[in-house]
Amino acid sequence: MDEGGSRIRRRVSLPKRKRPSVGCVFVAPTAAKLERGDEEKKEEEMVAENRRRKTAGVIPVEVQPCLLSDSPDCLVLGSGDTNPDLLRHMPTDRGMGDQHNDSEEDMFGDYDSFTENSFIAQADDLEQKYMQLPEHQKHATDFATENLCSESIKNKLSVTPIGNLTELQTDEHTENQSGCEDVTVEPGADLLYDVPSSQAMYFENLRNSSNDLGDQFMKKRDWKSSSHNTVNEKLPHNCIEQRQQNDESSSKVRTSSDMNRRTSIKDHLKSAMTGNAKAQTPVFSRSKQLKETLLSKEINVAKKTIESSSNDLGPFYSLPSKVRDLYVQLKGIEKLYEWQHTCLTLKSVQERKNLIYSLPTSGGKTLVAEILMLQELLCSRKDVLMILPYVAIVQEKISGLSSFGIELGFFVEEYAGSKGRFPPTKRREKKSLYIATIEKGHSLVNSLIETGRIDSLGLVVVDELHMIGEGSRGAILEMTLAKILYTSKTTQIIGMSATLNSVEDLQKFLQAEYYTSQFRPVELKEYLKINDTIYEIDSKAENGMTFSRFLNYKYSDTLKKMDPDHLVALVTEVIPNYSCLVFCPSKKNCENVAEMICKFLSKEYLKHKEKEKCEVIKNLKNIGSGNLCPVLKRTIPFGVAYHHSGLTSDERKLLEEAYSTGVLCLFTCTSTLAAGVNLPARRVILRAPYVAMEFLKRNQYKQMIGRAGRAGIDTIGESILILQEKDKQQVLELITRPLENCYSHLFQEFTKGIQTLFLSLIGLKIATNLDDIYHFMNGTFFGVQQKILLKEKSLWEITVESLRYLTEKGLLQKDTIYKSEEEVQHNFHITKLGRASFKGTIDLAYCDILYRDLKKGLEGLVLESLLHLIYLTTPYDLVSQCNPDWMIYFRQFSQLSPAEQNVAAILGVSESFIGKKASGQAIRKKVDKDVVNRLYLSFVLYSLLKETNIWTVSEKFNMPRGYVQNLLTGAASFSSCVLHFCEELEEFWVYRALLVELTKKLTYCVKAELIPLMEVTGVLEGRAKQLYSAGYKSLTHLANANPEVLIRTIDHLSRRQAKQIVSSAKMLLHEKAEALQEEVEELLRLPSDFPGAVASSTDEA
Ligand SMILES: Nc1ncnc2c1ncn2[C@@H]1O[C@H](COP(=O)(O)OP(=O)(O)OP(=O)(O)O)[C@@H](O)[C@H]1O
Ligand SMILES: [Mg+2]
Repeated sequence: MDEGGSRIRRRVSLPKRKRPSVGCVFVAPTAAKLERGDEEKKEEEMVAENRRRKTAGVIPVEVQPCLLSDSPDCLVLGSGDTNPDLLRHMPTDRGMGDQHNDSEEDMFGDYDSFTENSFIAQADDLEQKYMQLPEHQKHATDFATENLCSESIKNKLSVTPIGNLTELQTDEHTENQSGCEDVTVEPGADLLYDVPSSQAMYFENLRNSSNDLGDQFMKKRDWKSSSHNTVNEKLPHNCIEQRQQNDESSSKVRTSSDMNRRTSIKDHLKSAMTGNAKAQTPVFSRSKQLKETLLSKEINVAKKTIESSSNDLGPFYSLPSKVRDLYVQLKGIEKLYEWQHTCLTLKSVQERKNLIYSLPTSGGKTLVAEILMLQELLCSRKDVLMILPYVAIVQEKISGLSSFGIELGFFVEEYAGSKGRFPPTKRREKKSLYIATIEKGHSLVNSLIETGRIDSLGLVVVDELHMIGEGSRGAILEMTLAKILYTSKTTQIIGMSATLNSVEDLQKFLQAEYYTSQFRPVELKEYLKINDTIYEIDSKAENGMTFSRFLNYKYSDTLKKMDPDHLVALVTEVIPNYSCLVFCPSKKNCENVAEMICKFLSKEYLKHKEKEKCEVIKNLKNIGSGNLCPVLKRTIPFGVAYHHSGLTSDERKLLEEAYSTGVLCLFTCTSTLAAGVNLPARRVILRAPYVAMEFLKRNQYKQMIGRAGRAGIDTIGESILILQEKDKQQVLELITRPLENCYSHLFQEFTKGIQTLFLSLIGLKIATNLDDIYHFMNGTFFGVQQKILLKEKSLWEITVESLRYLTEKGLLQKDTIYKSEEEVQHNFHITKLGRASFKGTIDLAYCDILYRDLKKGLEGLVLESLLHLIYLTTPYDLVSQCNPDWMIYFRQFSQLSPAEQNVAAILGVSESFIGKKASGQAIRKKVDKDVVNRLYLSFVLYSLLKETNIWTVSEKFNMPRGYVQNLLTGAASFSSCVLHFCEELEEFWVYRALLVELTKKLTYCVKAELIPLMEVTGVLEGRAKQLYSAGYKSLTHLANANPEVLIRTIDHLSRRQAKQIVSSAKMLLHEKAEALQEEVEELLRLPSDFPGAVASSTDEA
């Protein structure tokens, strides 16, 4: 770093603390058990906390600019992707915070808490305490009955017993194997008597110190002796040894005082060991010898542990014990499942090999991924990317992990919807966890490759890996992973799924190990219902099922007619005390079924959680600006609602919350819910073995029934698939056959797949000649499966053809280089149009037409209203599904101003054409249907921007409100793509400023004052309105809010949600502050190419 830079850095950065060394080596975690803190521990933590605050207080005042106003003046633009990508509002207006905010310092503290947890710090404390102890106390307790480590620092210090335990167990095991019987040594009062004097002295000292430290060690020992079958027994020894080696390097950076502290204990140990070696060995009894062996091993382990813990890494899978506490506090997870422990301690995982793991739904896969991510962030000190399939899941994860980020000192950054920066902000100290949708993850990886930063990504986790075999999203996921594999040799890839079959191809593609288990914490019983008989699915039975029971119900004639499938009988066996999901084949069917069920529910159901249900209705009305769906109005009082994409995201979120808290007990839903947010149920009913018109796939079936019986919520789970006699055979096949295989979609999704890939390979200079591109293709999932997927062509032919196609389209240019008379090399470079398409992540099927439309727009862009611009950013891919209501079209057209009607005329859509269509007349003149439909969608968007009310617009155009909202999000996304497209083409300079504004308007189609609040993950329009009117007007307001006060002032806000909002706001605020600090440093840093800079630094040297 240059001089200027370091000067600034010194001024603004936090005091340097001890950091964990790079390259985490896994300490053998002792127990999968997580322990809840007791009183003493709390007290100790408070002390630690106070100390932390004090340290934080040392931060120079210059750090304070993090107290910001968040006026969205300036936008930071990123490279686009197929989904919304813009722009994150960057505050330009910064105020110097003159007030020192304790809680903020506390929350945003660096690794101080980490340091407090370090073994060295504890050892230091321990030593000091020991020194201060009155002599008589030092001998007051007995090693056998007293405990070595205090309860209060149980977690922090547990590294010692862990090591001991592991070592002991393994040794015991070895000794047993070598024929030694009766080796269980219960440390008794006579133990010290039997050991050499030097050791005795050491233990005596340690024992006395332990008086202050509590009982951890003994607890561990007791636990150890009573649980010989724990998975710890399998822990490899080399974990500890490996780590010790690594720590040697890390220890170099420690301060001298640290060294002194350590030396004292080390010396102590050393002298103990030397003394031991020198001491005359008396004749011991066999049991005495064993005891001694045992103790000397303990010393070794203690010694190793002291050395190995020098990098501040903790005992919980190399992580600080605080992580363990956070899991207990925030997620209620007290103990890892055995498979989770086994998986985390796999040799391949420790060696950072790529890994695919597959377990049934609800198996607890996420926790393993999270621990590995935390290891990467905190131990290896690298950034991590987690790819999840949907925006809603990304937001759920952001909310869930923000508190971890705040407590442990890393950033959690959202890459979904309109959020995300490309390339991501370079962080000064802390590492980032990017949580992204598939599309955003791809853009992020592209931007990291482009800026030469791909190696900063230590780990990429892909949840629901089977999605690699699903359509264009699968193709994008494949491209992302293939690029990482090709460009970074250090990035580890981990994929998980519940529905993977024949993983060999995937393994080959990802060069990954595979781990699988059938573990499911809550048993899931699967049933089939034919007429009024229920059968249990039983793989051992001849035809795969056995009779279970007859359905017990008394139906009136009307009910029989209305409910031939006996849904009312099935759901009333469960609700209202337990929750139930009914999967229906279509959206309309969801609404009908919900209404039908409510018609026949007794009035008693109305009384269950009546007040809360009233609240839900009131809140739904609020977020709909006074509008309420009539179906929901009738069903919610019974605790029932439908759930599908026709709802707005605000409504969906509110209903999901009500369902999660048990206010609603029954959802009728489409299959999308199965892959979406985590909504568990006691009973899952599949209304028919169909999704829309298609017969159910095994994977879909598994995902849907997997919602039943979630750990921690239900003790049992059951699924009932309703079928008609005619479908019986097919259903029996469905339940017995294996899961569908996963196939690459890279070729199938031609323009969005292989062509987009080639364009970006050349655009990013990953591979620019034919041979390299072919080589790259060999390493893709498609490359692995090519012989199965496309027999008639070779991979080489496919590669050559695709490149030719792109060249012919004017997106690539070929340069032929004659290396010698025989040798010719075909190099490719990207054209301007190619770059624009790549940067804008425009589907290559539409790049020509987009170019043409924009070019035509230059000839006469109507700027009197937004309509023309909106038309240019209305997504092409939604046009084909649009069927205008001609009457509405005509009415809307008539209401346009002359200038706006002129837009239609420029595009070739005349009033007479629409009028004729509306009156059903035949039209002879040929009109471009795509343009007409696109203009209709532009009307919808234009209307939305004017009205800012989805309900009114959806009524006006007779479209489901969810559809209107999707159109809006799609347009916001496409607008930003077009913006990036224009940025690469000089001739379109005029569009740039216009599109920045338009994208902003489309992204936040709400009142400007709500925008800063809606930047916070999970705060949608409805919630933003509530918060705003309660006085929380900015991000800073939210970040400083007290969750308890929020619960009291904001209707229908649970404690969990309040905490998540505050955590997310804190995280975002901190992120912004950090980015600004980085900007300041960058501004003041002397450029590396500054004339004379090199010379002067050499002079200095
Ligand atoms: N060790 C544990 N102890 C208790 N609960 C756990 C444990 N591990 C995970 N859980 C809980 O189990 C539930 C399901 O876990 P998770 O979401 O990781 O399942 P999954 O394997 O990813 O399932 P799916 O394939 O459906 O996504 C969660 O609520 C999680 O908090
Ligand atoms: Mg999962």
